[in-house]
Amino acid sequence: MSRKPLLFLLFPVFLLAACGEVEDTRPGKPVAHRQAAFRAMLKSSEPMGIQLREGTYQAETFRQHAEKLAQLKDAPWDYFGADTQYPPSKSDDRLWQEPETFAAERDAFIRAVEALRLAVQDAPEEAEQAAERLKAAYAPVEASCRSCHRRYKR
Ligand code: HEC
Repeated sequence: MSRKPLLFLLFPVFLLAACGEVEDTRPGKPVAHRQAAFRAMLKSSEPMGIQLREGTYQAETFRQHAEKLAQLKDAPWDYFGADTQYPPSKSDDRLWQEPETFAAERDAFIRAVEALRLAVQDAPEEAEQAAERLKAAYAPVEASCRSCHRRYKR
């Protein structure tokens, strides 16, 4: 059987996938920057959640992720300026209509990340005890990601 028909079928699918990615072409690329900042936060928060959920807590890598998240926690916010709601933004329009609530969500998140970092510094040596304590400190971080997304992310 010739391979040509198959390639012919695949090509339009590939084009569609490529068109799905709208590029941020504005000066300074604020939307692209905030999205990249969120993806970086996910890279350090997600592995902590996995360790705690799957019972694979490992003190040193967990500490590194918590430190990293604390370093990244302020990164997205300055990129939510006025006139930054355009494709490829996945923000909800309400974000700019409710600046105070958005700021409160942001601040709750920043406090939760800071509290997690401190909890990691104080964590017991014994792994099971540490994991239990860190579950309690990690939960508000995850809850604040979710809460803000429910309100302000499409
Ligand atoms: C205070 C609000 C808020 C908090 C807290 C928050 N996010 Fe978001 N997040 C948003 C908004 C708004 C967007 C949509 C940004 C856009 O596209 O304009 C977003 C987008 C994202 C994206 C998609 C980025 C992309 O490539 O399009 C990821 C991933 C993400 N957030 C992860 C997280 C994680 C993980 C946390 C917690 C550790 C978190 N966010 C906390 C508001 C928040």
